[in-house]
Amino acid sequence: MLSACALVGTPGRPSAAQPQNDVRQFNPASQAPAEAVSLSDYEALARERVPRMAYEYISGAAADEITLRWNRESFDRIRLRPKILVDVSKLDTGVNLFGQELPFPILLAPTSYHRLIHPEGEIATVKGAGAAGATLIASMLATTTIEEMAKAATGPLWFQTYILKDRGFTRDLVQRAEGAGCKAICVTVDSPVVGVRNRDQRAHFALPPEMERANLKGLMRPGGNLRPPEGDIYTPILDAGLTWKEIDWLRSFARVPVWLKGVLNPDDADQAVKAGASGIIVSNHGARNLDTVPATIDILPEVTERVAGRIPVLMDSGVRRGTDVLKALALGATAVLIGRPYLYGLGVAGPEGVRRVINILQTEFRIAMAFLGRTSLRSIDRSALWLNRP
Ligand code: FNR
Repeated sequence: MLSACALVGTPGRPSAAQPQNDVRQFNPASQAPAEAVSLSDYEALARERVPRMAYEYISGAAADEITLRWNRESFDRIRLRPKILVDVSKLDTGVNLFGQELPFPILLAPTSYHRLIHPEGEIATVKGAGAAGATLIASMLATTTIEEMAKAATGPLWFQTYILKDRGFTRDLVQRAEGAGCKAICVTVDSPVVGVRNRDQRAHFALPPEMERANLKGLMRPGGNLRPPEGDIYTPILDAGLTWKEIDWLRSFARVPVWLKGVLNPDDADQAVKAGASGIIVSNHGARNLDTVPATIDILPEVTERVAGRIPVLMDSGVRRGTDVLKALALGATAVLIGRPYLYGLGVAGPEGVRRVINILQTEFRIAMAFLGRTSLRSIDRSALWLNRP
């Protein structure tokens, strides 16, 4: 891993050696440092540069962060099986999701509060995503409205929402997102409560009041807390009473494909198909919800076997290398999402950092395809892996 110390003094930030603690003063560089060549390099730089509270919020996970470690270890354990003398002079990395052509099977996962690490917040992110040709799933918990994001976007957007206690507000959000041109709705279904986030607690994480949850104006006051009061487990706005009935309800008015995000159990995946979900996202929320649930890449084969091609299956949590993308596809995923890495890109070099992070992953993925003799996504299957071998 790159030593971030080697990169201090980059233009855009007067003193890069010591993270500023006030997220309101933070302004990332506009140039991506040439020495940062991998996603982990961006993470190392973000650790050096981004204000501590924001870095802890982004990088942290639930409780003892065991699943966070497993998300990486499980990818690393899978071995690849090269294939020689295949004509790989042309690679087709495109994938079609409900009529939307993606140039690469890599999307940006919904993540909250981008203004913590860039003064333009999500506007900077959409610029970077658009420049790399990647679809961004805008978070309900953005610090910019979905309409403003759509206006600035040069690439496709999806919208992620939770089903809130206030159903009318939820319906309104979905319709606002559709009106703004979002191509899909991604309903996060893995958070009846929020996880034990000891890292946030230790860093005294709180969203500064001037960084509003812009989509939730009228529902939450600026500076309002999403976390439950001490000793309680329920949040003020998320609904712990959700069941499959609410998925039927949302589908009854949604006009774009509805994805369920946060599936970890093959039985739930089967139920999601029966409930009419357009697709599912296998995710442990980047290990931020319940510690010691398995790594998603370990569960993915069981889920894709159960779904058996009836709907597309995406996955996230721990994807950091092009080889990880290939492994996920070999185990049945149609595409993957990345979360933290593009936030590190945003915090290090704004839109250009986001673009670079995505480009690095896209390039690594193409390199992996070439070495394995796979010329299209369709040709990536389990024979690309050396499963159950030392
Ligand atoms: C998230 N994630 C998330 N998921 C979601 O459905 N809605 C949200 O608002 C957020 N917010 C959020 C903030 C931050 C800082 C992180 C790191 C993550 C989870 C996210 O969509 C995704 O599942 C994980 O980030 C994927 O794991 P990696 O790529 O970060 O390891």
